[in-house]
Amino acid sequence: MKSNNCIVILDFNSQYTMLIFKILRELKVYCEVYNYNDISLNKIYSINPSGIILSGSSYSVLNNGPILSDKILNINVPILGICYGMQLIVKMLGGTVESIINCREFGLSRIMIKKYSNLTNNIYDRINNDGYIFLDVWMSHNDVVTKIPDGFIVIAGNDKCQNAIIANEKDKIYGLQFHPEVSHTKCGINLIKRFAFNICNCVPDWNINNIHTTIINSINNLVKSNDKVILGLSGGIDSLVTAIIINNIIGKRLICIFIDNGLLRLNEYKLVTKLSNNFNLNTIYINAKDKFFNALSNISDAEEKRKIIGKVFIDVFLEQATNFNNVKWFAQGTIYSDVIESKNKIKSHHNVGGLPNNISLKLLEPIKKLFKDEVRKLGLKMNIPYNILYRYPFPGPGLAIRIIGEVRNNLCKLLRLADSIFIEELKNSNFYYRIDQAFTILLPIKSVGIIGDCRRHDLVLALRAVNTSNFMTAKWVKIPYNLLHKISNRIINEINEISRVVYDISDKPPSTIEWE
Ligand code: XMP
Repeated sequence: MKSNNCIVILDFNSQYTMLIFKILRELKVYCEVYNYNDISLNKIYSINPSGIILSGSSYSVLNNGPILSDKILNINVPILGICYGMQLIVKMLGGTVESIINCREFGLSRIMIKKYSNLTNNIYDRINNDGYIFLDVWMSHNDVVTKIPDGFIVIAGNDKCQNAIIANEKDKIYGLQFHPEVSHTKCGINLIKRFAFNICNCVPDWNINNIHTTIINSINNLVKSNDKVILGLSGGIDSLVTAIIINNIIGKRLICIFIDNGLLRLNEYKLVTKLSNNFNLNTIYINAKDKFFNALSNISDAEEKRKIIGKVFIDVFLEQATNFNNVKWFAQGTIYSDVIESKNKIKSHHNVGGLPNNISLKLLEPIKKLFKDEVRKLGLKMNIPYNILYRYPFPGPGLAIRIIGEVRNNLCKLLRLADSIFIEELKNSNFYYRIDQAFTILLPIKSVGIIGDCRRHDLVLALRAVNTSNFMTAKWVKIPYNLLHKISNRIINEINEISRVVYDISDKPPSTIEWE
């Protein structure tokens, strides 16, 4: 049976798995990531992939590291094992992995190509005067392969790691001791490209037109001709893109519900109304601010706030849904990073798992397999204006997780204003589009200030601005001092209750983007 044009990445909790994913998607190869724990052999059969990549890991195969069913090596698709993934293949096929102190390597290393392989042919960094060919690679391993399994040959290695690339060309199983996905391995992308296109025979068809058609087909298959769909429109692009796609297919059978929870950015209601009119969406507007503030009173724990907001949202939402008959689907703009971050359980964020179990509505998440940049491309295709698509992401619990401690209506008003000043100044100085997310945070402390002859004892506000490509890692942005100065002056002058502004200079990791 012809395989589906898809690569499955099995993740052994490697910090680099997302890099493999991103590289493949940028090569326009469709791929899916599964944690080794979450996928069965049957599921892999049903996906019928063109290839499988086994990620690295901080585990050791010598020390109860996760294993896979041996059968995975017999399903007759090309397999690429990276670091731990390679050691696992070796162990499963009867080779030997050992922990040898002198063989440990962390960082840049050079390996020599000794034999021809379909994976590496013509890929190298350097040829020396004697004609020897070398690759510069990023190593990160304690254990090494000391005996390769039958049927394999050694393609490349060095003194510390004799078996840095191994191959079984007949079965198309390859192992790399280093990390091709890390940018320090200069030829790494070429190796992944070679695996995807020449070994797995993938076709680079993961482009926006195909994505669009696939999504339309899946909605058509799921939503029957009389079914109605309800969707929470938040003003963010994920729910907007989701709404427009569904609306283009089922028109007024899509009912969008915009709930003002009092935790939104400035003028959000106006913006959503405008967008909804422009795209002909059938939208109901609900003011539920009081319900949210009542439920949040006296609550200062971030996770508890998130849960309460999620619950009140669902209550208000489902109450509205009962006003319509034949509502079968609850649509959400969940995207891939929501799913992955929720699995990490760092924070209980995002849309994932928002519906109570006893609800008969089915979940419709048409853009669940896309990353933010792909959602934006899709949005452009659907004529959503650039300035909307490239608005900074805004978390579902909104300002509640940017007010440290208890959330009150008056604090939200201050924060909303401060945030709008920050954003306005970033736009005025042409910095806005050089930053991926920026916002303000209200701290639960007061500090002393003076205005004229008067002492004041008022709130402290933090500014946060980050650059990130996937929101899983991020760097703080070096906004020029004069711009920071201007922003801080404006905020302190225009908002009486704020007497001090500070700038957050923490990367993710170790910090997260949001403060709570
Ligand atoms: P963190 O703080 O986890 O944020 O580094 C990564 C991205 O996710 C957004 N975020 C949230 N989005 N509900 C959401 O819908 C949440 O509870 C939530 N917490 C963080 C954050 O704004 C950033 O873009």
